Parts: sequence; structure tokens; C-alpha cells
Amino acid sequence: MPGLPSDPSRMDFDRIKALAQDDLERVNQVIRTRLQSDVVLINQLGNHIVGSGGKRLRPILLLIASRALGYRGEAHLLLAAIVEFIHTATLLHDDVVDASELRRGQSTANAIWGNEASVLVGDFLYSRAFEMMVEVDNMRVMEILAHATNTIAKGEVQQLLNCHDPDTTEERYLEVIHNKTAKLFEAAAELAAVVSNAGSAVEKAMAEYGRHLGTAFQLVDDALDYGRNNPALGKNIGDDLAEGKPTLPLIHALRTGNADTRALLRQAILDGGLSRVDAVRDAIESTGSLAYTARRAEEQAILAKQALATIPDSSYRQALHDLAHFSVHRDH
Ligand code: IPE
Ligand code: IPE
Ligand code: MG
Ligand code: MG
Ligand code: MG
Repeated sequence: MPGLPSDPSRMDFDRIKALAQDDLERVNQVIRTRLQSDVVLINQLGNHIVGSGGKRLRPILLLIASRALGYRGEAHLLLAAIVEFIHTATLLHDDVVDASELRRGQSTANAIWGNEASVLVGDFLYSRAFEMMVEVDNMRVMEILAHATNTIAKGEVQQLLNCHDPDTTEERYLEVIHNKTAKLFEAAAELAAVVSNAGSAVEKAMAEYGRHLGTAFQLVDDALDYGRNNPALGKNIGDDLAEGKPTLPLIHALRTGNADTRALLRQAILDGGLSRVDAVRDAIESTGSLAYTARRAEEQAILAKQALATIPDSSYRQALHDLAHFSVHRDH
């Protein structure tokens, strides 16, 4: 990503994914089966978003963390599918809220079927995830997932309140990304510890790992939105500015720029739209705001890695370590 030395992040990710491959294929099968409905539109729209790929980062995290903790059962497969369903539901809703037209290299579901269909199929996926959760028959699991889902919704509402508000602080921004994004990573990692009966100290350490990883991940996502157009990303850049979303690159540029820069950025946030995108990019560049965002992400990745110190060393723990690195150095 901009501001950091280039890194073979794609190779790293392929290696991490390879370690989870057998489990992941089974999870993808669960996802395909549980997506089915007797309503054609649900199948069409569901197959569109699920079939267009995605990194499957959250299920991979849950699967690898379960292996790192010595888990030998099967519940992690269902949990990984549940976590991906919740993620997919948030994406369907998110693309409506953000008026986004490209996701996973294809037209968004809202661009093809409209906002109503996306919102409703998003609800279908959320509630299907809750049906599957009940099957796991473990109160702690339900508690973690119910709380994570509610927190994501809260984060999206908090973000809505920050929209077009140039006085949004870094603190308020961080609260949004903890809630809307980091919480699901936290839940995925914590669930791995819960199903593995790893004990409360490890549950806490894994939750912390997931929280820092997810925070790094969203910080980088927000930097990539001001990066170069990049087919690997599979999304249009500039969506955050277009919606007047004060993410960290803008917040930092607004805090550190000169009076002219500040006036420009305040107006860009108030108005939204992309008419000033070149001037905004220049301001972000001249204030070193992408590099600042990258540094904050790197700090979070370091904290994520530190949280792994208490779990036994293995190739799986190393993969979790590498996942934190990937989250910061990725291009997609
Ligand atoms: C996108 O998540 C939403 C964010 C939290 C930034 P991913 O980048 O994991 O999306 P997919 O699943 O790989 O498409
Ligand atoms: C997504 O944040 C957060 C969610 C929990 C869905 P973004 O709105 O930045 O995600 P992208 O960039 O559209 O994937
Ligand atoms: Mg979005
Ligand atoms: Mg969004
Ligand atoms: Mg984004």
C-alpha cells in the first residue's frame, strides 16, 4: 500500500490460505448449501456475491486459529460459514449505504437488482446465520456472535452520524472502525478459542489479536480508498470521499494541513462528491496522511502479533502472525 515498502503480500496470503485449504473447501460447501432458498432472487443475488469470490479472510482466521489451538472437532466449519454470512450481509447493506457500484471485481448487487433486493437478501443472510448459530448449541458462541452483529450495526450508524461532519475526530473514527469492522475479526478469533476450550486467558488473547488485526485491516482499507486504481482491489476507489466520510487520511490531513488545505477539506467533507478529488489527493499526499494511516495500521498489526505470544508455537500460529502482516501490506 502507499507509504510502505512494497511487499510480496499476495504470496504471503496464498501461503496462509493454503494452510486452511482443506477446511476452507468444506466451509465453502457449507456456504453454498446454506445459501439455498426456494426463492429465486435469494439464490441469484446470493450466488452473485458469494460466487464472485472475496478473500474469505474471517473464515480463514477462524479456521487457522482453531488449528493453532489444537481443535480437533467440526464446529469450526459451521462457525466459519456463519462468520462469512454475517460479513456478506454487511457487504450487501454497506454497498447500499455507500452507493457503491463495484465489489469483488463485479457490479454490486444493488447496482444489478436495486437497493431493496440487497437490503432484504442481506437480512436473509443475517437471519440464516442466526439459524446456523443455534445449531452450534453453545450459549457463549451465541453471545459472542449476537454481540458482534449488534456492534457492527451500531458502528455503521455511528459512521452515518459522522458523515459530512468535518469535526469528526480520530477518536470517533477509531470507535467506528472498532465497531463496524474489528468486532467481527475479534469474534472470529475468540470463537476459535471458545470451541477449542482453550480457557479464558487464551480467549482474551485471541479476542485481542482479532481486534487489533481488524483495526489494522480497516485502516488500510481506508488508505486504499485514496490509493491508485487497482484491479486487484475489485472496488472503485474514492467511494469514501464521494459520501463525505471522514476517514483517517482525511482527518489527519485536516488536522495537519495549512489554512487553505483545511478549508478545502472541510468543504469536500461537507459536500461529498468527487469534483475536488484531485485537490483532496494532493492535500492527503502533501500532509503525509497515507503514511500516517499506514503507521497506525502497522502499530495495530504489531499489537496483534504480540497478543499471540501466549499461544504455543506452530505453523498455524506463524500463519496468524503473517495474517497481521498481510493486513497491513496488502493491495486487495
Ligand atoms: C471488506 O472486507 C469490508 C471491510 C471491512 C473493509 P474484505 O476486504 O474482507 O472483503 P472481501 O470479503 O475480501 O471481498
Ligand atoms: C465496510 O467499510 C465496513 C463493513 C463492516 C461492511 P467500507 O465501506 O470501507 O468497506 P468497503 O470499502 O465498501 O469494502
Ligand atoms: Mg463500503
Ligand atoms: Mg461503508
Ligand atoms: Mg472501504
